Amino acid sequence: MLDLFENVTENLPLIPEESLSDEDVLKEALALKEELSDRMLILGHHYQQDDVISFADITGDSLKLAQVASSVDKPYIVFCGVHFMAETTDILTTNKKVILPDLRAGCSMADMANRAEVDTAWKFLNDSIPNGEKIVPVTYINCTAALKSFVGENDGSICTSSNAEAVIKWALDKGDKLMFFPDQHLGRNTCFKMGIPLDEMVTYDPNKVNGGLTKEKIQRAKVILWYGYCSVHQGFTAGQVRKIKKDSPETRVIVHPECSFEVVQAADEAGSTAYIINRVNEMPAGSKIAIGTEINLVNRLAQENPDKTVISLSPYQCLCTTMYRVRPRWLLASFRAIKQNRPINIIQVDPQTTQYARKALETMLSLS
Ligand code: 13P
Ligand code: SF4
Repeated sequence: MLDLFENVTENLPLIPEESLSDEDVLKEALALKEELSDRMLILGHHYQQDDVISFADITGDSLKLAQVASSVDKPYIVFCGVHFMAETTDILTTNKKVILPDLRAGCSMADMANRAEVDTAWKFLNDSIPNGEKIVPVTYINCTAALKSFVGENDGSICTSSNAEAVIKWALDKGDKLMFFPDQHLGRNTCFKMGIPLDEMVTYDPNKVNGGLTKEKIQRAKVILWYGYCSVHQGFTAGQVRKIKKDSPETRVIVHPECSFEVVQAADEAGSTAYIINRVNEMPAGSKIAIGTEINLVNRLAQENPDKTVISLSPYQCLCTTMYRVRPRWLLASFRAIKQNRPINIIQVDPQTTQYARKALETMLSLS
């Protein structure tokens, strides 16, 4: 794989010259997008900035983009999103090159669980339960390929925020307990919505001995949640919901289930980015809506719904700084490289990890 900052040919540098204005970057990138359209599909997650989203052939939440990935027929897929999403696309495709325009676009939640930690937790949990009982592991798609493989190897599944309920139901139907990682909030919010009381859920903290749990606590629990979270969504507070409800009782508060339990409980509704978009679009003119999710999506919804008042739940910028790294300049570098048949920033998962991770993704897709 070539480095993002390497100039491949002297005549045509991959990285746009510093002197190239933002306007010229957009112009050249748009022309190349057109020229390469038979070879290249551009996918964009809803949290991308508007100038990047304008390049996307298909936009979506994590579930839709995974569904699209499994049927792409072009050799290059440029993924405007974060690393775990590009990995998912590579796992679900064959003989395609998946390109992440900026390799630094990671996800702090995905970094909160690694394979060694999960293997250790899995052993402790299984050593703690009586013979014959079964724990089913489910990982949120926001994780590394190694963890997607872990759930495939251990008869579990992957979920997104759009299908978490269906996947958790499937897991609990086939086992006695659920291990859910890395996002404690999505796990807790979904399980509670499904009728599982909070006192049947425990949180495993990988930074503590035995996750901070005892065998007795594990035996009593139905659900073991991993201590991970999204730093963007964890920034919203129940106090912000209460303030909006007090100042403007007619405002509908809709939040993403990566927000904390208290925020989801205080809000009127919770759902994935696709759910939030649908709800805002279907509300009548004059509606007031406060949204608890990433700011680029909130701002876009406000622009696209000028007959409604759409605001962020938080007065602070709830920005995903890693999503933010993808810029038109890096798209142009990726396009120039594809044009020269010397693609850069390719995300490639090894075959063994792919095998089990794909099994788990296919389980998820069959449940969606
Ligand atoms: P969804 O795309 O499933 O709504 O998840 C949001 C998110 O945080 C992606 O990183
Ligand atoms: Fe990760 Fe949160 Fe950013 Fe999504 S919004 S990519 S979960 S840090």
